[in-house]
Amino acid sequence: MSEEVNFYQVIGGEQTLQRLVNRFYEIMDSEPKAVGIRAMHQADLSEANEKLFLFLSGWMGGPQLYIEKYGHPMLRARHLPFAIDESARDQWIYCMVRAMHDVGLDEKEMLQLGNALWDVADFMRNQPEI
Ligand code: HEM
Repeated sequence: MSEEVNFYQVIGGEQTLQRLVNRFYEIMDSEPKAVGIRAMHQADLSEANEKLFLFLSGWMGGPQLYIEKYGHPMLRARHLPFAIDESARDQWIYCMVRAMHDVGLDEKEMLQLGNALWDVADFMRNQPEI
């Protein structure tokens, strides 16, 4: 039996995922702690919102929507134009943890999903630490 957690099912599928991504960008757009990563994004966050939703759908074990529409994500390569250091990683995770809380994930789900996303966010880092 697989020990992989299907986060897509655990959080309640497409609707919860869309609420999570919406909340994530609302927080990024309004939270002073996230100004560093907000500034890396376009003024209009709707494309980033769409792409993160499509990507997370497949990454969480649901439909592979990003791949169907855009092909292989090449996520790390796509983030290379942005200087992602520990602070940027932590700002991203901060927005995500708050979003998970706000959409009402329970504590165990938040910890498991938060841990797994932390690994992805840390993998995006492309700046040496001082
Ligand atoms: C570690 C901190 C991170 C920073 C600072 C960051 C920043 C960015 C920025 C600036 C963009 C371009 C958005 C735009 O065009 O306005 C982007 C795109 C994207 N990010 Fe991140 N990101 C981070 C982590 C992550 C993580 C952990 C994931 C997935 C779990 C992710 C998924 C995506 C996706 C799917 C796109 C769209 C790629 C495309 O098709 O162009 N990012 N990110």
